[in-house]
Amino acid sequence: MIQTLIGKSTEEAAAFLNEGQIIGIPTETVYGLAGNGLDTAVVSKIFEAKNRPYFDPLILHFKSLKAVNECVESFPTAAKILAETFWPGPLTLILPKRAIVPDLVTAGSSGVAVRVPSHELTLKLLQEIPFPLAAPSANPFKYVSPTSAQHVYDQLQNKIPYILDGGNSEIGIESTIVSFLDKTPRILRFGGIPTEEIIKICPDVIIDIQHAPNQHESPGQLEHHYSPNCILRPFSSTEYASESEKCVKLYFKKRADWQENKAEYFLSESGDLKEAAARFFSVLREFDAKKIEKVYFEWLPEQGLGRAINDRLKRASSNYNALG
Ligand code: TXA
Ligand code: MG
Repeated sequence: MIQTLIGKSTEEAAAFLNEGQIIGIPTETVYGLAGNGLDTAVVSKIFEAKNRPYFDPLILHFKSLKAVNECVESFPTAAKILAETFWPGPLTLILPKRAIVPDLVTAGSSGVAVRVPSHELTLKLLQEIPFPLAAPSANPFKYVSPTSAQHVYDQLQNKIPYILDGGNSEIGIESTIVSFLDKTPRILRFGGIPTEEIIKICPDVIIDIQHAPNQHESPGQLEHHYSPNCILRPFSSTEYASESEKCVKLYFKKRADWQENKAEYFLSESGDLKEAAARFFSVLREFDAKKIEKVYFEWLPEQGLGRAINDRLKRASSNYNALG
């Protein structure tokens, strides 16, 4: 059994990574489970620790746009403009991969997912190591993503030697993914950069978010994903009845008549989408910690980060949609 340390030392973190170990790292979106992205043996440790199927590829994290060039065959102009605009930041680009990138990282695809994260500690760490970091979100497959070192510890303790503690993730939801493998760029996942911002720079981008099972180009976009243990249902579709004290409501915005003891939760005090995104995953974890069984939620405005949060709510509640 490995003892898991939580600390703020990039030197210690780099030492573990240089030895071929995998560790938890902070990013502005969610925490990652990171290892040497150019070493197949290390990458397979990531899949194992996460219980993640090998068909679901990983994102490579780099210290700079320049460093990305070593792993990609080409960098289309539109992709470069997006990168220059949003990196470091919550944007992942899928670009044609070079042979140096192990097939395990891309699950056999000719495209590799790349991003430069915007987190001071992790950028420092990336400066101190001679390879990019392959890192999926540091949660067991299909569970809610972690937004603090404690979240990572709760689920991966004794599986990894170190978690680099960079505080709470500022954005709170994963990066937006844009693929440049075809002539027309495609948004494969809604995330931390709102679609509207991508369209401003890339007006021809199409939205290609997959919901149906069995046709996943971005397999992490499974129909049922981001799921806490509690059952989630939109309360527009069902009459909310207080079935038990283990049943709560989740609002976007704090209601004027809100009372702490009324089993009502909210994502943002003032109806701010950024605040809602930053709190979203930790609120879902809080429900599980409190053993809440059922959550009736309100959809957010379908704009900006609201679209990304709604996408995750849709997936987290998808098992139950069919039941009405
Ligand atoms: O914000 C983020 O992107 C976080 C932080 C840690 O960087 N990472 C993250 O990784 O969310 P993960 O593995 O949980 O989700 C990555 C998504 C998955 O849906 C995966 O299928 C997709 O990216 N993906 C990775 N490589 C791909 C590729 N080569 N082609 C298509 N989709 C890819
Ligand atoms: Mg994930």
